Amino acid sequence: MPKVLLLGGTTEASALAGLLAGSGVDTTLSYAGRTASPRAQPVPVRVGGFGGADGLADWLRENRVTHLIDATHPFAATMSANAVAAARLAGTPLIALTRPAWAPQQGDRWSHVADVGAAVSGLAGPARRIMLALGRMHVAEFVAQPQHHYLLRFVDAPEAAPPLPHHSLVVDRGPFTVEGDIRLMREHAIEVVVCKNAGGTGAQAKLAAARELGLPVMMIDRPAIPERHEVHDPADVLQWLDHAAASIAERGV
Ligand SMILES: NC(=O)c1ccc[n+]([C@@H]2O[C@H](COP(=O)([O-])OP(=O)(O)OC[C@H]3O[C@@H](n4cnc5c(N)ncnc54)[C@H](OP(=O)(O)O)[C@@H]3O)[C@@H](O)[C@H]2O)c1
Repeated sequence: MPKVLLLGGTTEASALAGLLAGSGVDTTLSYAGRTASPRAQPVPVRVGGFGGADGLADWLRENRVTHLIDATHPFAATMSANAVAAARLAGTPLIALTRPAWAPQQGDRWSHVADVGAAVSGLAGPARRIMLALGRMHVAEFVAQPQHHYLLRFVDAPEAAPPLPHHSLVVDRGPFTVEGDIRLMREHAIEVVVCKNAGGTGAQAKLAAARELGLPVMMIDRPAIPERHEVHDPADVLQWLDHAAASIAERGV
């Protein structure tokens, strides 16, 4: 029987956990521990870092994991690189379940930047009203452009006030709608949206809202991740699992 470690923290990972539980696959879902109240899951959950690629490789060996699935966020580049290295070290087959990146549509006014640092520099200039749709991890970096008013939207209420001198904070886990995001952007008189190219449907509403309102979007492109077997459809993960399990059984591992 396969024994799966599923690296999660995304909607896709939660959906896959449901599918794996439904198929009776022995699965542990792993969270980094960034969210105070993660959703209840139908499989056992472990929380916290592994201690780099070596730590993850040890965890795979100690827990006799036969299959590693990386369904982390496309911007969780350290975890994904560690997964590639650990899979190689432990000899554990790895698959990544990712969302296709968003592509601009007619009417979109996107500019592209390579990373959060480039987004911060790109905001030099007179004060504007900016929707910073990045979660809470990178907010402190925008202190370097303190002239702007920032609209922040977090999943959990922060323990300490965000360090930006001018900001409004909305605590909302979503799912978000285009109508709701248009309303929010109008209410806060937003002039620019800054976001990561996360892909998927959960966070797409803000892009349609910006298009509808004719607002520019500063799109932070995805970080590079080492080459790995990557699919976009959970059904492909299940098929890979069947296939890989059969070959493990053949080898008598
Ligand atoms: N980055 C985003 O924009 C974003 C958005 C939504 C959700 N998330 C989710 O939030 C989590 C952290 O993202 P991040 O960008 O901080 O990752 P990251 O920068 O790639 O990872 C930093 C460290 O956090 C630990 N870690 C990350 N994901 C983990 C997981 N699923 N299970 C156990 N440890 C994990 C690892 O620690 P060790 O080296 O000690 O193992 C990793 O080296 C991930 O689960 C990701 O899917 C991220």
